Amino acid sequence: MTPTNIHIIGAGVAGLTTALLLSRDSRYRVVVSAKHMPGDYDTEYASPWAGANYMPVSRNGTDASKWDEATWPLLEELAHNHPEAGVHFQGQQSMKRDQSLRAASTNKSSECEIYTRRKDAQSATAAWFADLLSLSPWFKDIVPNFRVLPKEDLTRDIEYATAFTSVCINTAIYLPWLLSQCVKNGVKFRRATFQHIREAVNATDAEHRANVIVNCTGLGAAVLGGVADETVVPARGQIVLVRNETGGRMLNFSGTDDGDDEACYIMGRALGGGTVIGGSYQKGNWNGQVDMDLANRILERAARAFPALTGGTREAKNFDIIRHGVGLRPVREGGARVELERLSDDGVWVVHNYGHGGAGYQSSYGCALAAVKLVDEITVLRARL
Ligand SMILES: Cc1cc2nc3c(=O)[nH]c(=O)nc-3n(C[C@H](O)[C@H](O)[C@H](O)COP(=O)(O)OP(=O)(O)OC[C@H]3O[C@@H](n4cnc5c(N)ncnc54)[C@H](O)[C@@H]3O)c2cc1C
Ligand SMILES: *[C@@H]1O[C@H](CO)[C@@H](O)[C@H](O)[C@H]1NC(C)=O
Ligand SMILES: *[C@@H]1O[C@H](CO)[C@@H](O)[C@H](O)[C@H]1NC(C)=O
Ligand SMILES: *[C@@H]1O[C@H](CO)[C@@H](O)[C@H](O)[C@H]1NC(C)=O
Ligand SMILES: *[C@@H]1O[C@H](CO)[C@@H](O)[C@H](O)[C@H]1NC(C)=O
Ligand SMILES: *[C@@H]1O[C@H](CO)[C@@H](O)[C@H](O)[C@H]1NC(C)=O
Repeated sequence: MTPTNIHIIGAGVAGLTTALLLSRDSRYRVVVSAKHMPGDYDTEYASPWAGANYMPVSRNGTDASKWDEATWPLLEELAHNHPEAGVHFQGQQSMKRDQSLRAASTNKSSECEIYTRRKDAQSATAAWFADLLSLSPWFKDIVPNFRVLPKEDLTRDIEYATAFTSVCINTAIYLPWLLSQCVKNGVKFRRATFQHIREAVNATDAEHRANVIVNCTGLGAAVLGGVADETVVPARGQIVLVRNETGGRMLNFSGTDDGDDEACYIMGRALGGGTVIGGSYQKGNWNGQVDMDLANRILERAARAFPALTGGTREAKNFDIIRHGVGLRPVREGGARVELERLSDDGVWVVHNYGHGGAGYQSSYGCALAAVKLVDEITVLRARL
């Protein structure tokens, strides 16, 4: 049987994960084209800026929760068996803990901790993230060691808190790792910027004309001709990457005192990757420049919320900064689009896999598996024609 030529547009976590899964099937010949490749840092390219962690914010019973659910076992497997991928469990390093260095909790063995502040317990944000903040979320039996932290361990401003075993993905290692795994399986990579999805049909070469195009363009989907999807909008995320270490803890709070579009989260990356401190979630904001006032608020909040990060000083001014960053999360109203479409002009099939918002890593395998299923369906269909 002649192989199906698959042309994937986009080399973020969505495109790379989809390419990796497709490349394991000998029926498929896969080419990835993108404007941005692993190693690039550009606001338009969301993937390098993510923390990234597995903290589901999807609502129970939605497609998004199914994708998150399907992703966990694969991330867990990488953390157990492939340390070279840069995915690691939080809580593995031991750290001298001292009561004077209390974070929001003194819990000694927590890995990934989620704190709901008293003042957020009834807020709109808390309602929106109800599943993540819940004492009994849908994912409690998916991730290991889910538990509610004892009330007596919490500081006074915290209403309740949960913890579970989770991973942090060092995106500076993981994206090149995904690319390498693809190359090992024969996937070709090329730099290209498309004005219109139609250009992707003949882009590789005449004899390898694409039979299927896979659209993993993230926020690019908002402007790409032929698909201009107006429901895709940016949610600006600003972060600071520092050398100071968390001792293997990952924390996230239900809110901040600095407005609804700011966040407070902290996670340590594997293999000397430093600590990512966030952040913001500024919907509709395309500004790719670092806002230094926001950067200062981010560091101040982290220093207060997690004293151990600053050696107990709670002083933000001494952080050892690797870099500031701004990424635009590709948010799609109604959730990510994993869907089949047939181009009317020349009958080429398009499988869409874009619009993952703030969850592109934690849903990556679930979405890629769903995209592969659609490619498989087209392949069976084409064989019958
Ligand atoms: C600060 C921040 C923190 C985050 N934290 C997390 C987290 O903890 N956990 C988590 O799961 N997610 C997190 N995310 C979200 C995650 O980063 C995104 O959901 C994910 O990176 C989206 O991946 P993608 O491959 O769809 O898009 P992108 O990474 O943006 O890649 C898009 C690709 O398409 C290419 N492209 C677009 N248009 C064209 C065109 N016309 N022609 C050619 N190529 C094109 C681009 O060049 C690029 O290669 C975070 C995001 C940010 C910004
Ligand atoms: C999630 O939804 C399912 C039904 O779709 C239900 O059975 C289950 O109890 C829900 N879980 C939680 C934690 O709400
Ligand atoms: C692709 O190439 C074929 C054969 O050369 C041609 O018929 C077709 O119009 C081209 N399609 C596009 C979208 O350029
Ligand atoms: C991808 O989908 C988006 C949104 O529908 C669209 O704007 C873009 O043209 C599509 N790109 C490709 C390569 O299909
Ligand atoms: C932290 O929790 C907030 C909700 O309180 C959520 O918006 C955000 O995505 C979470 N951040 C991370 C990095 O998981
Ligand atoms: C961060 O680490 C550096 C050493 O790398 C140290 O000098 C500095 O005081 C630390 N900053 C804080 C805020 O703890």
